[in-house]
Amino acid sequence: MENIWLNEAYKGEVPDFHGRVGWACPSNIALVKYWGKKGKQLPQNPSISFTLSECRSETFVTFEKADRFGFSFFFEGKENPAFGAKIERFLLENQAFFPFINQLNLKVESRNTFPHSSGIASSASSMSAFVMCLLDIEYQFAGIEHQLAGNFGVNAQKASYFSRLASGSAARSVFPAMALWGKTEAYKGSSDEYAVSLENDIHPVFKTYHDSILIVSGETKSVSSRAGHALMEGNPYAPARYAQANENIKNLLSALKSGDLDTFINITESEALQLHALMMCSNPSFILMKPNTLNLINEIRRFREETKTPVCFTLDAGPNVHLLYPDNEAKKVEKFIKNELVTFCNQGRWIADHVGDGPKNLLP
Ligand code: PMV
Repeated sequence: MENIWLNEAYKGEVPDFHGRVGWACPSNIALVKYWGKKGKQLPQNPSISFTLSECRSETFVTFEKADRFGFSFFFEGKENPAFGAKIERFLLENQAFFPFINQLNLKVESRNTFPHSSGIASSASSMSAFVMCLLDIEYQFAGIEHQLAGNFGVNAQKASYFSRLASGSAARSVFPAMALWGKTEAYKGSSDEYAVSLENDIHPVFKTYHDSILIVSGETKSVSSRAGHALMEGNPYAPARYAQANENIKNLLSALKSGDLDTFINITESEALQLHALMMCSNPSFILMKPNTLNLINEIRRFREETKTPVCFTLDAGPNVHLLYPDNEAKKVEKFIKNELVTFCNQGRWIADHVGDGPKNLLP
């Protein structure tokens, strides 16, 4: 796969003009989790996610011809080299794919639509938004007529490939509705190198899903995902986990197709708890759930039991609870959130998000 993109890389002289591109990319929430990597940012097991909508990064890149590579990064209007370091490292490590950066001065300006203190990981949305900008610039130089988003062909695959190199889960943020990243026999065309769209393989109910993010704590994570993935290497449960994830992928793909909400709920909750169980039994171990995480989980399960409403939860690598439900239950569930769940949220905060359309060109 690498050779295709190496061959395609724009290797010519950078034209003497400056320009500006801008892309918005959403965050995503995994249902079957990616936890553990191998090689160069390859997943130990396949993962599936919902693409979100309201939680997104909006990134603009101003570029001009220069004698050498120049880079500056502004976050929410202020220069922030620390936040830009991951992008700069990604560019320098992947120069062979983007040789034209050595003739460019890049000014990156990024903002997130979700608050920095909401505990929501921004690397998937910010890295994929940057990659969309980079490919946009490359295609302008190469004079390629393109549509990076909307009509998902080889360009989305390329965007996913480079987003993955920038931050694993970012591979899934360049597709609308749902994406699968990682090779599985259960899905033809799946790959460890890039994600694929599941948009046309899911029952329509899943395109209506809400993700109400219940903020238990806005603190930054006590374990970075880089360190968390690395801890899987010595985890005695790792082989069983990878086998189980593969099984869950197979069963979830079939439930997504048929609209089997019971199986969806079962797998989604089990995956969330497994992710946290893996952290609890790694060495050193981490407990990322807070008392209110458990209070919310118990309330959600009680509500499901009592009202037979098909709601379920998932968790990312942190204490916040993602409440998932189809649109036809939204009225009832929002009442439940306001009446019973907000008391467990930090300052009563929650974010109303839903399944979305993927990347958007901000300067078409
Ligand atoms: O993309 P990373 O390296 O930040 O890892 C993300 C891992 C989880 O968010 C915990 C799970 C996932 O599949 O998104």
